[in-house]
Amino acid sequence: MTPHEQLLAWLNDAHAMEKDLIQVLESHAGQAEDHPDVQERIQKHLKATKDHAEIVKDCIETLGGEVSGVKSFLGELMGAIKGPSTMLAKDRVIKNAQMQAAAEKMEIASYTAIVAAANTMNHIEVIPELERILQQEKDMEQWLENNIPVLTEDYLAGLETA
Ligand SMILES: [Fe+2]
Ligand SMILES: [Fe+2]
Repeated sequence: MTPHEQLLAWLNDAHAMEKDLIQVLESHAGQAEDHPDVQERIQKHLKATKDHAEIVKDCIETLGGEVSGVKSFLGELMGAIKGPSTMLAKDRVIKNAQMQAAAEKMEIASYTAIVAAANTMNHIEVIPELERILQQEKDMEQWLENNIPVLTEDYLAGLETA
């Protein structure tokens, strides 16, 4: 495998990851109906995630590759924690936020490697777009880190009054 083929393989992994996350975020947005601010932020990142999938597809094609239907590494990891018991849990908005934070960290690590590889190979035609994706993942991750404590407090306050 050449470095160029490796970069294309990583971009394909990222594309599969974005596709999986579209489904995850759609379901999490639906489950956040009691938390309009959380729902709004998830919907915003869902829109960004759909853009990411398209941008990554464009990058693959710009670099002379094509989208292959690989199974995402993240999807395999998350399969274990997406079970029905989590979906029915009362604290699901918090569990979902934790899962999303983990997913964003995975995306950050993936795009960091991809940007480094693109830099190494001097593929300046794709670097700015990939850096923009990376920044949006960092923003979402930061938002989740900032909001998990507030969500947790709200949730506990609800338990006391029940
Ligand atoms: Fe993304
Ligand atoms: Fe993301």
